[in-house]
Amino acid sequence: MHPDVVVIGSLNMDLVVRAPRLPKGGETLAGHTFTTAPGGKGANQAVAAARLGARVAMIGCVGADPYGDFLTRSLLQEGIDCRGVWVAPEVPTGIASILVDDQGQNAIVIVAGGNGELSAAQLQAQEPLLDQAKLVIAQLEVPLATVGDALARAHALGKTAILNPAPATGPLPAEWYAHIDYLVPNESEASLLTGLPVENLEQAEVAARQLVTAGARQVLLTLGSQGLLQVTADSCRHHPATAVKAVDTTAAGDTFLGGFAAGLAEGLSVEAAIALGQQAAAIAVTRPGAQPSIPTRQELAR
Ligand code: RIB
Repeated sequence: MHPDVVVIGSLNMDLVVRAPRLPKGGETLAGHTFTTAPGGKGANQAVAAARLGARVAMIGCVGADPYGDFLTRSLLQEGIDCRGVWVAPEVPTGIASILVDDQGQNAIVIVAGGNGELSAAQLQAQEPLLDQAKLVIAQLEVPLATVGDALARAHALGKTAILNPAPATGPLPAEWYAHIDYLVPNESEASLLTGLPVENLEQAEVAARQLVTAGARQVLLTLGSQGLLQVTADSCRHHPATAVKAVDTTAAGDTFLGGFAAGLAEGLSVEAAIALGQQAAAIAVTRPGAQPSIPTRQELAR
């Protein structure tokens, strides 16, 4: 099988506590429930692309432990090619400690574990996979040097490169921008990348324009319930979101990215691929969990 989409990124076991609200520093709160579910931005985006119709391969790294086995098996069950998922013998699998409040908002702390071991050398060993794909997606939960290498390789091979700069900690290396076809930050990530406030549509447009000026071919700035701003060198278009009652926003952005990539891979226009990603994300936020919340293409047709 030749993949349409190769995802280079994280696999996490999500440890999820639901509570009435997020606690303040030093506070102990009684929660409602505790669950575990497969997650990690990379793996979530791979699952979303697969459920929405793409042939997907994952490049990542887990520890030699039950979480790592479970996460890899979950991806295999989705039909995702996991030949590029390495097992690092001396580190645990990555985890995410996630708190979700009654409004569906979350707070996440990740511990990289195996994700921190994904190296450019491992990526190089998967070059044939990259060469077969149409699109490459990366995020920032694996080492930055590996992400930079992934973008450069994808660009050199003539592939469409999508970067979800999450979680962002500050500006991206300037040399990355020329290799990015679609940069997909949310408001806080766009703010960290540019140093600008991003609290309304006008500010979002200014920040997105700065990222295009830096060299990204298109910026798709996701705005939660406000939808998305699509900005290129000579255009700016707002794509509103469908109003839904959010239960859990975890992996909403990942679902959008996977749906968008699946749409591009099947030859949809950029606008139609955005609409596919938005439709999928609107369903994901109405259900709990990361990968468990991601809809299939059949569900979208209902
Ligand atoms: O984007 C949501 C994801 O962020 C979660 O699944 C968690 O693992 C963290 O990586």
